[in-house]
Amino acid sequence: MRIVLLGAPGSGKGTQAQRLIDKYRVPQVSTGDLLRAAVTAGTELGRRAKATMDAGKLVDDATMLGIIRERLGQPDAAGGFILDGFPRTIPQADGLAALLQSIGQPLEAVVLMEVDRDKLFRRLTGRRTCRTCGRVFNVYTAPPPQPPPCGGQCATPDLFHRPDDSEATIGKRLEVYESQTRPLVDYYRERGLLARVDAEGEIDAVTARLEAALAGRRR
Ligand code: AP5
Repeated sequence: MRIVLLGAPGSGKGTQAQRLIDKYRVPQVSTGDLLRAAVTAGTELGRRAKATMDAGKLVDDATMLGIIRERLGQPDAAGGFILDGFPRTIPQADGLAALLQSIGQPLEAVVLMEVDRDKLFRRLTGRRTCRTCGRVFNVYTAPPPQPPPCGGQCATPDLFHRPDDSEATIGKRLEVYESQTRPLVDYYRERGLLARVDAEGEIDAVTARLEAALAGRRR
Protein backbone atom coordinates (compact mmCIF):
# COMPACT_ATOMS: atom_id res chain seq x y z
CA MET A 1 0.00 0.00 0.00
CA ARG A 2 1.42 3.39 -1.00
CA ILE A 3 -0.52 6.18 0.62
CA VAL A 4 -0.27 9.74 1.86
CA LEU A 5 -2.01 10.96 5.00
CA LEU A 6 -2.77 14.62 4.41
CA GLY A 7 -4.12 16.97 7.05
CA ALA A 8 -3.51 19.94 9.28
CA PRO A 9 -1.16 19.77 12.25
CA GLY A 10 -2.94 17.73 14.91
CA SER A 11 -5.39 16.07 12.54
CA GLY A 12 -4.13 12.66 13.72
CA LYS A 13 -1.83 11.63 10.87
CA GLY A 14 0.81 10.16 13.19
CA THR A 15 -1.72 8.50 15.48
CA GLN A 16 -3.48 6.77 12.61
CA ALA A 17 -0.28 5.90 10.71
CA GLN A 18 0.92 3.99 13.78
CA ARG A 19 -2.26 1.91 13.62
CA LEU A 20 -2.22 1.30 9.86
CA ILE A 21 1.35 -0.04 9.74
CA ASP A 22 0.23 -3.32 11.31
CA LYS A 23 -2.67 -3.78 8.93
CA TYR A 24 -0.77 -2.97 5.73
CA ARG A 25 2.67 -4.15 6.89
CA VAL A 26 4.44 -1.11 5.50
CA PRO A 27 6.46 1.52 7.37
CA GLN A 28 5.24 4.91 8.53
CA VAL A 29 7.42 7.56 6.95
CA SER A 30 7.02 10.75 8.98
CA THR A 31 9.16 13.62 7.76
CA GLY A 32 8.56 15.41 11.07
CA ASP A 33 9.97 12.41 12.96
CA LEU A 34 12.95 12.19 10.58
CA LEU A 35 13.71 15.88 11.12
CA ARG A 36 13.32 15.62 14.91
CA ALA A 37 15.69 12.63 14.92
CA ALA A 38 18.24 14.74 13.01
CA VAL A 39 17.82 17.57 15.55
CA THR A 40 18.35 15.15 18.46
CA ALA A 41 21.38 13.60 16.76
CA GLY A 42 22.83 17.06 16.16
CA THR A 43 23.50 16.43 12.46
CA GLU A 44 24.04 19.27 10.02
CA LEU A 45 20.48 18.75 8.72
CA GLY A 46 19.17 18.90 12.29
CA ARG A 47 21.03 22.13 13.02
CA ARG A 48 19.67 23.73 9.84
CA ALA A 49 16.09 22.50 10.38
CA LYS A 50 15.67 23.29 14.08
CA ALA A 51 15.05 27.04 13.85
CA THR A 52 12.63 26.55 10.96
CA MET A 53 10.65 23.90 12.83
CA ASP A 54 10.57 25.88 16.07
CA ALA A 55 9.16 28.82 14.11
CA GLY A 56 6.42 26.63 12.61
CA LYS A 57 7.67 27.16 9.06
CA LEU A 58 8.49 24.56 6.40
CA VAL A 59 11.95 23.20 5.68
CA ASP A 60 12.88 23.86 2.04
CA ASP A 61 11.59 21.55 -0.68
CA ALA A 62 14.99 20.43 -2.00
CA THR A 63 16.04 19.24 1.46
CA MET A 64 12.75 17.42 2.02
CA LEU A 65 12.85 15.71 -1.37
CA GLY A 66 16.40 14.53 -0.64
CA ILE A 67 15.26 13.08 2.69
CA ILE A 68 12.29 11.30 1.15
CA ARG A 69 14.30 9.91 -1.78
CA GLU A 70 16.76 8.38 0.63
CA ARG A 71 14.08 7.01 3.00
CA LEU A 72 11.93 5.45 0.26
CA GLY A 73 15.06 3.81 -1.15
CA GLN A 74 15.48 1.74 2.01
CA PRO A 75 14.51 -1.95 1.81
CA ASP A 76 11.58 -1.76 4.24
CA ALA A 77 9.80 0.71 1.95
CA ALA A 78 10.06 -1.51 -1.14
CA GLY A 79 6.60 -2.98 -0.52
CA GLY A 80 4.92 0.34 0.20
CA PHE A 81 4.73 3.12 2.79
CA ILE A 82 2.46 5.44 4.70
CA LEU A 83 3.64 9.00 4.17
CA ASP A 84 2.83 11.22 7.16
CA GLY A 85 3.62 14.92 6.76
CA PHE A 86 4.93 14.67 3.20
CA PRO A 87 4.27 16.15 0.68
CA ARG A 88 3.39 19.58 2.06
CA THR A 89 3.81 21.78 -1.01
CA ILE A 90 3.07 21.45 -4.73
CA PRO A 91 6.79 21.15 -5.62
CA GLN A 92 7.11 18.33 -3.06
CA ALA A 93 4.09 16.58 -4.60
CA ASP A 94 5.55 16.97 -8.11
CA GLY A 95 8.91 15.63 -6.89
CA LEU A 96 7.25 12.66 -5.21
CA ALA A 97 5.24 11.83 -8.35
CA ALA A 98 8.41 11.91 -10.47
CA LEU A 99 10.28 9.72 -7.98
CA LEU A 100 7.49 7.14 -7.79
CA GLN A 101 6.99 7.14 -11.54
CA SER A 102 10.69 6.42 -12.05
CA ILE A 103 10.35 3.24 -9.99
CA GLY A 104 6.92 2.27 -11.36
CA GLN A 105 5.25 2.52 -7.93
CA PRO A 106 2.55 5.22 -8.13
CA LEU A 107 0.55 6.43 -5.16
CA GLU A 108 -2.66 4.49 -4.51
CA ALA A 109 -4.47 7.03 -2.35
CA VAL A 110 -4.19 10.34 -0.53
CA VAL A 111 -6.41 10.57 2.51
CA LEU A 112 -7.42 14.02 3.72
CA MET A 113 -8.05 13.91 7.47
CA GLU A 114 -10.61 16.58 8.30
CA VAL A 115 -10.83 18.18 11.78
CA ASP A 116 -12.27 21.54 12.89
CA ARG A 117 -9.60 24.16 13.54
CA ASP A 118 -10.74 24.77 17.16
CA LYS A 119 -10.19 21.12 18.02
CA LEU A 120 -6.69 21.16 16.52
CA PHE A 121 -5.47 23.66 19.13
CA ARG A 122 -6.65 21.48 22.01
CA ARG A 123 -5.13 18.35 20.47
CA LEU A 124 -1.75 20.00 19.97
CA THR A 125 -1.47 21.80 23.30
CA GLY A 126 -2.38 18.53 25.03
CA ARG A 127 -0.11 16.24 23.01
CA ARG A 128 2.60 14.28 24.83
CA THR A 129 4.97 11.85 23.12
CA CYS A 130 7.00 9.04 24.65
CA ARG A 131 10.62 9.81 23.84
CA THR A 132 11.52 6.12 24.10
CA CYS A 133 8.88 4.34 21.98
CA GLY A 134 7.41 7.30 20.06
CA ARG A 135 3.82 6.62 21.04
CA VAL A 136 1.60 9.70 20.98
CA PHE A 137 -0.85 10.58 23.77
CA ASN A 138 -2.98 13.52 24.79
CA VAL A 139 -3.60 14.82 28.28
CA TYR A 140 -7.20 15.74 27.32
CA THR A 141 -8.29 13.17 24.74
CA ALA A 142 -5.98 10.14 24.91
CA PRO A 143 -4.21 10.09 28.28
CA PRO A 144 -1.41 7.58 28.80
CA PRO A 145 -2.37 4.82 31.23
CA GLN A 146 -0.60 5.00 34.61
CA PRO A 147 1.87 3.54 35.41
CA PRO A 148 4.06 3.56 33.39
CA PRO A 149 3.17 6.76 31.52
CA CYS A 150 3.96 5.48 28.05
CA GLY A 151 1.35 2.72 28.28
CA GLY A 152 3.57 -0.13 29.28
CA GLN A 153 5.79 -0.48 26.23
CA CYS A 154 8.82 1.24 27.72
CA ALA A 155 10.92 0.48 30.74
CA THR A 156 11.80 4.17 31.01
CA PRO A 157 8.75 6.41 30.71
CA ASP A 158 9.76 9.72 29.21
CA LEU A 159 6.91 11.90 27.96
CA PHE A 160 7.68 15.23 26.35
CA HIS A 161 5.79 18.20 24.92
CA ARG A 162 7.00 19.22 21.45
CA PRO A 163 8.55 22.71 21.36
CA ASP A 164 6.43 23.61 18.31
CA ASP A 165 3.23 22.81 20.22
CA SER A 166 3.16 26.22 21.96
CA GLU A 167 0.04 28.28 21.15
CA ALA A 168 1.94 30.91 19.14
CA THR A 169 3.70 28.32 16.99
CA ILE A 170 0.54 26.27 16.49
CA GLY A 171 -1.11 29.39 15.01
CA LYS A 172 1.80 29.82 12.58
CA ARG A 173 1.74 26.12 11.60
CA LEU A 174 -1.98 26.31 10.83
CA GLU A 175 -1.40 29.42 8.67
CA VAL A 176 1.37 27.64 6.80
CA TYR A 177 -0.90 24.62 6.30
CA GLU A 178 -3.64 26.79 4.79
CA SER A 179 -1.33 28.67 2.43
CA GLN A 180 1.16 26.00 1.36
CA THR A 181 -0.35 22.56 2.00
CA ARG A 182 -4.12 23.02 1.50
CA PRO A 183 -3.60 23.47 -2.29
CA LEU A 184 -2.66 19.77 -2.38
CA VAL A 185 -6.32 18.90 -1.78
CA ASP A 186 -7.24 20.12 -5.28
CA TYR A 187 -3.97 18.76 -6.69
CA TYR A 188 -4.79 15.21 -5.61
CA ARG A 189 -8.55 15.52 -6.26
CA GLU A 190 -7.81 16.44 -9.89
CA ARG A 191 -5.62 13.31 -10.15
CA GLY A 192 -8.36 11.03 -8.78
CA LEU A 193 -6.37 10.09 -5.68
CA LEU A 194 -8.17 12.01 -2.92
CA ALA A 195 -10.33 10.39 -0.26
CA ARG A 196 -11.80 12.52 2.55
CA VAL A 197 -12.17 11.14 6.06
CA ASP A 198 -13.90 12.70 9.05
CA ALA A 199 -11.02 12.57 11.56
CA GLU A 200 -13.04 13.71 14.60
CA GLY A 201 -14.44 11.43 17.28
CA GLU A 202 -13.03 8.28 18.84
CA ILE A 203 -9.60 7.23 17.55
CA ASP A 204 -10.90 3.70 16.82
CA ALA A 205 -13.80 5.13 14.81
CA VAL A 206 -11.40 7.26 12.75
CA THR A 207 -9.26 4.17 12.06
CA ALA A 208 -12.36 2.30 10.84
CA ARG A 209 -13.28 5.19 8.52
CA LEU A 210 -9.72 5.31 7.16
CA GLU A 211 -9.68 1.59 6.48
CA ALA A 212 -13.03 1.85 4.71
CA ALA A 213 -11.72 4.74 2.59
CA LEU A 214 -8.63 2.72 1.63
CA ALA A 215 -10.46 -0.50 0.81
CA GLY A 216 -10.29 -1.23 -2.89
CA ARG A 217 -7.66 1.43 -3.58
CA ARG A 218 -4.81 -0.99 -4.34
CA ARG A 219 -3.29 -0.71 -7.82
P1 AP5 B 1 5.19 17.20 11.68
O1 AP5 B 1 5.81 16.44 12.77
O2 AP5 B 1 4.84 16.51 10.41
O3 AP5 B 1 3.94 17.93 12.29
P2 AP5 B 1 2.47 18.24 11.71
O4 AP5 B 1 2.17 17.96 10.31
O5 AP5 B 1 2.29 19.64 12.13
O6 AP5 B 1 1.61 17.20 12.34
P3 AP5 B 1 1.58 16.79 13.80
O7 AP5 B 1 2.64 15.77 14.09
O8 AP5 B 1 1.59 18.02 14.68
O9 AP5 B 1 0.11 16.20 13.94
P4 AP5 B 1 -0.52 14.82 13.50
O10 AP5 B 1 -1.50 15.08 12.41
O11 AP5 B 1 0.51 13.76 13.27
O12 AP5 B 1 -1.35 14.51 14.81
P5 AP5 B 1 -1.11 13.42 15.98
O13 AP5 B 1 -1.46 12.07 15.49
O14 AP5 B 1 0.21 13.61 16.62
O15 AP5 B 1 6.12 18.43 11.27
C1 AP5 B 1 6.76 19.23 12.22
C2 AP5 B 1 7.60 20.28 11.51
O16 AP5 B 1 8.62 19.64 10.71
C3 AP5 B 1 6.86 21.17 10.50
O17 AP5 B 1 6.23 22.27 11.14
C4 AP5 B 1 8.00 21.59 9.57
O18 AP5 B 1 8.79 22.59 10.14
C5 AP5 B 1 8.83 20.33 9.47
N1 AP5 B 1 8.40 19.44 8.36
C6 AP5 B 1 7.89 18.17 8.49
N2 AP5 B 1 7.59 17.67 7.28
C7 AP5 B 1 7.92 18.63 6.37
C8 AP5 B 1 7.81 18.72 4.95
N3 AP5 B 1 7.32 17.70 4.23
N4 AP5 B 1 8.21 19.85 4.37
C9 AP5 B 1 8.73 20.89 5.09
N5 AP5 B 1 8.84 20.87 6.43
C10 AP5 B 1 8.44 19.76 7.06
O19 AP5 B 1 -2.29 13.87 16.98
C11 AP5 B 1 -2.22 15.12 17.65
C12 AP5 B 1 -2.83 14.95 19.06
O20 AP5 B 1 -4.22 14.66 18.93
C13 AP5 B 1 -2.22 13.78 19.86
O21 AP5 B 1 -2.08 14.16 21.20
C14 AP5 B 1 -3.26 12.63 19.72
O22 AP5 B 1 -3.26 11.79 20.85
C15 AP5 B 1 -4.56 13.42 19.58
N6 AP5 B 1 -5.54 12.74 18.74
C16 AP5 B 1 -5.32 12.05 17.59
N7 AP5 B 1 -6.47 11.59 17.09
C17 AP5 B 1 -7.47 11.99 17.92
C18 AP5 B 1 -8.88 11.84 17.93
N8 AP5 B 1 -9.55 11.15 16.98
N9 AP5 B 1 -9.58 12.43 18.94
C19 AP5 B 1 -8.94 13.11 19.90
N10 AP5 B 1 -7.60 13.29 19.98
C20 AP5 B 1 -6.86 12.74 18.97
